[in-house]
Amino acid sequence: MIYIKSPEEIRKIRAACAVVRDTLLHVGKNIRAGMTTQEVDALVHDYIVASGATPSSLGYYGFPGSACISVNEVVVHGIPSERPLRDGDIVSVDVTAEKDGYNGDACRTFCIGNVSPERRKLVKVTEECFFEGIKGLQAGTPLYDIGYRVQRHAESNGLGVVRAFVGHGIGRDMHEDPSVPNYGKKGTGMRLKAGMTICIEPMITQGDYRVKTLSDGWTTVTQDGSAAAHYENTVLITEDGVEILTL
Ligand code: MF3
Ligand code: CO
Ligand code: CO
Repeated sequence: MIYIKSPEEIRKIRAACAVVRDTLLHVGKNIRAGMTTQEVDALVHDYIVASGATPSSLGYYGFPGSACISVNEVVVHGIPSERPLRDGDIVSVDVTAEKDGYNGDACRTFCIGNVSPERRKLVKVTEECFFEGIKGLQAGTPLYDIGYRVQRHAESNGLGVVRAFVGHGIGRDMHEDPSVPNYGKKGTGMRLKAGMTICIEPMITQGDYRVKTLSDGWTTVTQDGSAAAHYENTVLITEDGVEILTL
């Protein structure tokens, strides 16, 4: 079921998204080598709570953290742990917050200290994939045009597009319809409508795109051990474009 949000609902989603945006800015200012991913999670937790919101990920199907914190070959759903961040790591911090019954969701991949040029490029291209994906996006655009554009940008840079996880609608629930893949055929899929709120979240790998989930049931890594990056924003579809709510 795809919900078209009312102006009142959009106001609430916007407020939740502002909390997510500010939380990620706060993490960006404070994250550094030596910090454990649990300490990063605490930054996220405390900032969200101080903002009058709740971390939607905490307890979601039993997830034990307030953010998914995924280092290097971990693609998504990294569980906050005692692992310290080290010089050269790339770490994605994926934050979802609920305020007044509505959610916002975004992710950034941070570079810790001296990161190799290859990894820096991965992080940069992943971010570009998002902006490429939303080019020309407005009411009436076929849904899979997004994935088509993301995939074309990633693969033309020699990078892999994760298929096993996708973007999604968002609102009262963290995950609503429709699914928003990062791959696809131009001109196909449903036509987007004004008032839809969706999360576009390229997950891009340095090597092969295939992933596997570890025995903890969450941590998802690349099968070939190559590094991965993740960049996500919540966007509102309008008649003549999009509004990025988590920037
Ligand atoms: N923020 C993730 C997404 O982009 C989902 C979080 S999974 C959870 O869809 F288990 F941590 F909640
Ligand atoms: Co997310
Ligand atoms: Co998401």
